[in-house]
Amino acid sequence: MPKSKIAGIGKYLPENVVTNNDLLKYMETSDAWIQERTGIQERRYAHRTEETTTTMAVEAAKVAIERAGITTDDVDFIIFATLSPDYYFPGCGVLVQRAMKMKEIGALDIRNQCSGFLYALSVGDQFIRSGMYKNILVIGSEKHSFGLDFTTRGRNVSVIFGDGAGAVILQPTEKEDQGILSTHLHSDGESAEILAMFNPGTHANHWKEEKMASFDDAEIGKMFFSHKMIDDEQIYPTMDGPAVFKKAVVKFPEVIMEALNANNLMPKDINLLIPHQANLRIAQFVQHTLKLRDDQVYNNIQQYGNTTAASVPIALCEAWEKGLVKEGDVVCLAAFGSGFTWASALIKW
Ligand code: ACO
Repeated sequence: MPKSKIAGIGKYLPENVVTNNDLLKYMETSDAWIQERTGIQERRYAHRTEETTTTMAVEAAKVAIERAGITTDDVDFIIFATLSPDYYFPGCGVLVQRAMKMKEIGALDIRNQCSGFLYALSVGDQFIRSGMYKNILVIGSEKHSFGLDFTTRGRNVSVIFGDGAGAVILQPTEKEDQGILSTHLHSDGESAEILAMFNPGTHANHWKEEKMASFDDAEIGKMFFSHKMIDDEQIYPTMDGPAVFKKAVVKFPEVIMEALNANNLMPKDINLLIPHQANLRIAQFVQHTLKLRDDQVYNNIQQYGNTTAASVPIALCEAWEKGLVKEGDVVCLAAFGSGFTWASALIKW
């Protein structure tokens, strides 16, 4: 069975740089608070009208396709991970297919938030190993800036997130000692509401106190999306930050060790760990737990904030462009996020 390799990688970051001080226009916060708690100095926000999750993905995909030495016609499957899609439905996969004038290939959307890219990579890996596809475009892209609470009330969440996209082309490799060695996926829905965006959705929680019975059938659509949700400002992500932190610093090392153990490797064998850029403090905690040197871990949250499903491919691409990922290197990707879901991948580059 052939393993899959990353044959090309690309990223796209919007031009608009938003510093911590820029956020003072909207909310009570400070550069010192944000840097101390998260490590973030600045992030990028997409152009409000001209850039979407899909357009950024297309830019990253163009680079990945070119670097893989193929054309859009060669792509035989699209896997798109995002929590900030252009539309509630259809997903961004088909929008990429349309925008890039691809053939009528399959397009799959993945909804696993911060772990989304790793879930997508794992799915792609299985399709390559099975022999079903030869050139899979795997994307993580987010336009968070369109869905955050920029008032002081939402500051614990809004200062963290940024926009951007990353993409890879997966291809089979016959080389014995190259490619994705293994992927590892996990979830625990017990804490699903700790880091979540509830609306629009079919949960109907919003209406419990509102005497649901008073709606006649013709008004039932109001439960899905309503003025009341907007008036109550229940249209933004919510997060219990300390609870996320506590779980993340346990699950990150656990899933990294799972990948290493599966391949008879040790932390010292990792040439580069690329953790999901959730928060610099989390990444530093993980580094400390696994006793990794600074040069074994790549972080760029300082410049881009947390770009959720896009953070791993953006960081991997940037590290590769800087020459920090070389043939034969052992690269570990790991993520943890909303769900909770967490995942890792070990790659021999
Ligand atoms: N600026 C200034 N003050 C703030 C801000 C802000 N942006 N946000 C919150 N505060 C205040 C709060 O109002 C609170 O004030 P109070 O004590 O007067 O009530 C105080 O800071 C502490 O609030 P906490 O929410 O407890 O803040 P905490 O110190 O835990 O830091 C943070 C928040 C950075 C989110 C932290 O909990 C954390 O690192 N959590 C990990 C989760 C994470 O990083 N998530 C990223 C996205 S999820 C993912 O990718 C996995």
